[in-house]
Amino acid sequence: MKTQKNIIDQRRPIIMANWKLNGDIDLLCKSVSSFVKHAYLAEVVVCPPYLYIRDMLNFLRNSPIKVGGQNISKHDSGAFTGETSARMLKEAGCRYCIVGHSERREIFGENNISCQIKITRALEANLTPVYCIGESQNEYEQGLTEQVLSHQLREALEGIDLTNKNLCIAYEPVWAIGTGKAATPEIAQTTHAYIRKELCEMYGAEVADTIRIMYGGSVNKTNAHLMLEQADVDGLLVGGASLDPEHFSEICRSAEETAKGVCL
Ligand code: PGA
Repeated sequence: MKTQKNIIDQRRPIIMANWKLNGDIDLLCKSVSSFVKHAYLAEVVVCPPYLYIRDMLNFLRNSPIKVGGQNISKHDSGAFTGETSARMLKEAGCRYCIVGHSERREIFGENNISCQIKITRALEANLTPVYCIGESQNEYEQGLTEQVLSHQLREALEGIDLTNKNLCIAYEPVWAIGTGKAATPEIAQTTHAYIRKELCEMYGAEVADTIRIMYGGSVNKTNAHLMLEQADVDGLLVGGASLDPEHFSEICRSAEETAKGVCL
């Protein structure tokens, strides 16, 4: 069960929308007005495509909703056509950036080593990286989940000092992303507990207890609260369902209710 201490002092529920290569100005306007009311106890972050980040930030002025990037460059500046750096995202007003999403790994050839560099860049820029890990369908079927996650964590976080730094982990089983086949809340809890155990071995209990571990993969308004009830599920990374403002608003409401439930 979640305890008041976990939520208030350490792991405030976080709901993050990953729009991927979707959305337009119309969605931006509709989104913001629909879920702003559920972003007080829970933390709500929207990651639109880069081009909309400034518009989003302008719309969100005086609102508690935060904005993040879906990716960052490994580089800080220089001759890297098409890239955007962590420093630029921070300067624009972003607080978070996603690193190592499985689509970036599969389609754009990213790996744990490039993720390590990006996590370092994000932390240097005072952005909170949301480092995505998760096993493929094949690896899941072969019972390799823990082995895969351990490798993804240890390789990408090698040498990264988290003293006074914020990092989130997103557990996104690849077989659950965009398939409508979410992990069960029990699988999510067991896996998140394993991830926290690994983080504890790497960084000690004090740090591991403050790192928020989000679940992602076919999250919707029906399964959101069941996931959030799990002791080690501290938030949700939402793809498809974040493109429907009403639907996403319901997910944010679940997080707000979870936070309220333990606050009362
Ligand atoms: P989904 O995507 O919610 O559409 O499954 C999640 C993600 O890719 O982050």
